[in-house]
Amino acid sequence: MARPVVVAKDVKKSFQHMGRTLDVLRGIDLTIDEGEMVGIVGQSGAGKSTLLHCIGTLDVITSGSLKIDDAELTELSGTRLAALRNRTIGFVFQFHHLLPEFSALENVVMPGLIQGRSRRDMEGRARALLEEVGLKERVLHRPGELSGGEQQRVALARALVLEPKLLLADEPTGNLDSRTSEQIHQLFYTVNEQRKTTIVIVTHNAALAAGMPRVVTLRDGRVERDERRPRGASAASDVSERTGKVEV
Ligand SMILES: Nc1ncnc2c1ncn2[C@@H]1O[C@H](COP(=O)(O)OP(=O)(O)OP(=O)(O)O)[C@@H](O)[C@H]1O
Ligand SMILES: [Mg+2]
Repeated sequence: MARPVVVAKDVKKSFQHMGRTLDVLRGIDLTIDEGEMVGIVGQSGAGKSTLLHCIGTLDVITSGSLKIDDAELTELSGTRLAALRNRTIGFVFQFHHLLPEFSALENVVMPGLIQGRSRRDMEGRARALLEEVGLKERVLHRPGELSGGEQQRVALARALVLEPKLLLADEPTGNLDSRTSEQIHQLFYTVNEQRKTTIVIVTHNAALAAGMPRVVTLRDGRVERDERRPRGASAASDVSERTGKVEV
């Protein structure tokens, strides 16, 4: 049986704002198993990013239980939380947050250097990943010298360089054209299939969501729907049928 990577039980998250309490997550129950690829959809303000940030240990829940890779987040100190985050989780955001002064290669190498890994080892991995995402000829370009889609590929390579068990993406194709979006989507499917990385993607992109093997719909801070596609009707094959094989 697949192991759960994310287990949320009655997760609530409130914000204090101008003297008022805003209840944003109102009791989320959600289990995501190792190797799953899950889309999170829902109207603006439904709590998607908030949930992703909590799962990614970037924000703290107000009540309930949230386990990542068997660790109860509320019981971990800041240092342990950071260690879990570095070891287990990779992030891709709508805006890539690449460091503008550094090349693609240096951006991808950076998370490993911060962790004290050897530059040589990290450069080897980073070059291989950049090649995998189709950027072999762009490794020395700075973000400003790359297209939006290329920048997002660098961000994906950076998120993968420490081989996270869990990859979290918040509208990773939110500001890309549809063709480039589709190529990035295909990369996510490839990562999920080949590396068995568990992937959670928040998206407004209907085409991406429709193709995902599992789609969780949030509404007003609760899970409104949780739909799975039968195995075999995998999104990856649908997408590659539609787009032809994407070079990776
Ligand atoms: N730090 C904060 N302080 C106060 N309120 C917040 C904070 N962060 C988020 N909120 C509120 O929580 C609600 C949910 O925000 P969230 O960013 O999770 O929505 P979302 O589903 O990701 O929406 P979108 O699709 O627009 O990105 C919003 O109404 C937002 O204003
Ligand atoms: Mg959001």
